[in-house]
Amino acid sequence: MRGVVLAGGLGSRLLPMTRVTNKHLLPVYDRPMIYYPIQQLVHAGIRDILIVTGGDHAGDFLKLLRNGQDFGLEHLRFAYQDGEGGIAEALGLAEHHAAGQPVVVLLGDNLFQDSIASAVDAFRANPTGAQLLLKEVDDPERFGVATISEDRVVEIVEKPTDPASSLAVTGCYMYDARVFDVIRGLEPSARDELEITDVNNRYLAWGDLRHRVVEGWWTDAGTIRSLHRASGLVAADRSNPVLTGADPGLEGS
Ligand code: G1P
Repeated sequence: MRGVVLAGGLGSRLLPMTRVTNKHLLPVYDRPMIYYPIQQLVHAGIRDILIVTGGDHAGDFLKLLRNGQDFGLEHLRFAYQDGEGGIAEALGLAEHHAAGQPVVVLLGDNLFQDSIASAVDAFRANPTGAQLLLKEVDDPERFGVATISEDRVVEIVEKPTDPASSLAVTGCYMYDARVFDVIRGLEPSARDELEITDVNNRYLAWGDLRHRVVEGWWTDAGTIRSLHRASGLVAADRSNPVLTGADPGLEGS
């Protein structure tokens, strides 16, 4: 299994801060936002991780993360996304890194209270198709929204104005190596991006989409309100190893 953290985008919902830095480098409580998805992957036993970023501040990721020593890693990989082609386009840049293996993908602005390790283990044991993590939320219209019938996802709609359920598709996705063929076949959406929801709907159409519902809290940190919320949630959970990091060197620093 290979890990991918998607950390591109303009972060326009976090202006003016994102005029001078990348969204994923902003602090969530005591560390940069991007530390949380990397910590999750490391906690799930994934040590080959690619960071996909873009924009004017891409060099700062290398300066911050170096070779991954804050996470006990021996190396990190980096890829650069030209332009604003969307999450699925960014994931397409991970094909070489995946090298035919299944991938665990985390959006760089997503934080999970609980470890994703058990979901990753389940996918490792059956590494075909795709697996999503879903979460009940109060504001599903901000996310991809899944409809479930007889314990299977039957539809996913990206940011529906009238959501059919309150189950958001979180930014943690697991795919087999076919995902790169799926991405190559995508057409840009109305907002001129390749949508990760279209990738998921392709696996759904194949009958190859599994899901789990997350129990602990989950939040994105891509808006002023959710960034503030994320810091508060992390601050209130200081004994949680997936939030405080795998490397004891980070503790108390
Ligand atoms: C993206 C995805 C959406 C998903 C969300 C999770 O939205 O398009 O399906 O629910 O991440 O954070 P974004 O927040 O990038 O617009």
